[in-house]
Amino acid sequence: MSRTVYLNGQYLPEEEAKVSIFDRGFVMGDAVYEVTCVLEGKLLEFEGHMARLQRSLKELQMHCDISRDEWLEIHRKLVELNGLENGGVYLQISRGNAGDRDFHFPKAGTPPTVVLYTQSKADLRNDPHAETGITVVSVPDLRWHRRDIKTVQLLWASIAKMTAEQQGKDDAWFVEDGFVTEGSSNNCYIVKNGEVITRPLSNDILHGITRGSLLKMMAERQLKLVERPFTIAEAQQADEAFYTSASSFVMPIVEVDGVKLGSGKPGPVAKRLREIYIEEALKAAI
Ligand code: PDD
Repeated sequence: MSRTVYLNGQYLPEEEAKVSIFDRGFVMGDAVYEVTCVLEGKLLEFEGHMARLQRSLKELQMHCDISRDEWLEIHRKLVELNGLENGGVYLQISRGNAGDRDFHFPKAGTPPTVVLYTQSKADLRNDPHAETGITVVSVPDLRWHRRDIKTVQLLWASIAKMTAEQQGKDDAWFVEDGFVTEGSSNNCYIVKNGEVITRPLSNDILHGITRGSLLKMMAERQLKLVERPFTIAEAQQADEAFYTSASSFVMPIVEVDGVKLGSGKPGPVAKRLREIYIEEALKAAI
């Protein structure tokens, strides 16, 4: 069945939503995006995603004057029109149609291209990977140095995921200067002696909305957290590991570069944090 999608102020059947071949998103990868998870027809972490979207736009001097309330209305309308129970809403804003290809930004007043659509998934709470745990391989982090901005320039992330797949593994961790930066589409953590360790925020990683909320929930429960970089060798000797993202919540990791962690099964800390996160995020969903 055809979805209804949003394009520049209009709700259209997906076949009718067309974007120019001159669009900066298409030609230059000049676009930012967000993915908001939907559970039971409700939006998770909506405020966080909208705050990060505004930050991405600002960092790239991109303009889009849609307000927070309008964004909410568009998200809710798409969820309703498509009868979405579980899955997510993808939002993308590009710098628009600049006419001829030109490295310089288009002149002021060129409207951005705004696209939103829903993606239906099986209930993400029951993802079988949460039971078995994820296997990861490391790849060098060859991305640009503004990973804090959520741009659509995801080629290296795609290559990393393909590298993992070709090795029969689930996902990839990026490594730079000997330390893990983040996962191909998630933030990562190790657990040692009950202490959770994760890389601090900087331009080296995306400031995950799930990460921010999870750290707050951990602080409220006086759970031990250290923000510092860690190496692959340290991860391989950890008791547990996990990653976080909007579409996976808290996902246990059981193997890093062929070495099984702890018991080789999802650990108790990751399991508990997954439960806490899902419960709290759903309670706050709108
Ligand atoms: N990815 N790091 C990277 C590189 C990411 O692409 C993502 C999200 C995260 C986690 O951020 P958050 O908790 O806000 O989802 C970290 C999304 C889900 C994606 O590209 O589909």
